[in-house]
Amino acid sequence: MTAFELICALAQGATVGIVVSDPMIEPPGPTILYANAAFGRLVDRELDEIIGHSPRFMQGRETRRETLDAFHRALAAGERFHGYVTNYRGDATKYRAEVDCRPLRAADGRIENFVAFEREVIRRIGRPSVGAAGRYEPAVVSNDLLTGALRGLAIFEHV
Ligand SMILES: Cc1cc2nc3c(=O)[nH]c(=O)nc-3n(C[C@H](O)[C@H](O)[C@H](O)COP(=O)(O)O)c2cc1C
Repeated sequence: MTAFELICALAQGATVGIVVSDPMIEPPGPTILYANAAFGRLVDRELDEIIGHSPRFMQGRETRRETLDAFHRALAAGERFHGYVTNYRGDATKYRAEVDCRPLRAADGRIENFVAFEREVIRRIGRPSVGAAGRYEPAVVSNDLLTGALRGLAIFEHV
């Protein structure tokens, strides 16, 4: 079983959004190969509007170019990108997404896929900010089977 197949099997019923792409980072790539149902709900689109497209479909006017440049640099270097991006849903409403994106490598080290764990976060109103991450809290707290595994992989601080 490949890492891709394993993730698809585990991701099926998870409450956190999980999306897997091919390794082509230059346009028109990356191409989304798999998204779980929670990801469909997060972006408010049918899976056939997601699979086969680039994750750029979530971007809009207020998506910051600097964040995307950092995203691109991390993917090009084969490194993890963990940050906050302004995404847009199918109905054009925007939301703040916490994205944890990592390369999946074959035994020979070659990157075969990227996998991203995505969830909506909200800003805490009226609280002083300690650090960048401290200003956000999850809109949805997942407590499915994947929770322990995601914590073990250090995906998100509080799953
Ligand atoms: C698995 C995966 C998930 C991604 N999810 C998002 C996302 O939710 N929002 C976003 O703006 N970009 C997302 N991206 C990043 C874009 O696909 C793209 O890499 C980014 O726009 C930077 O590249 P560019 O400068 O060529 O546009 C994702 C990338 C991958 C590989």
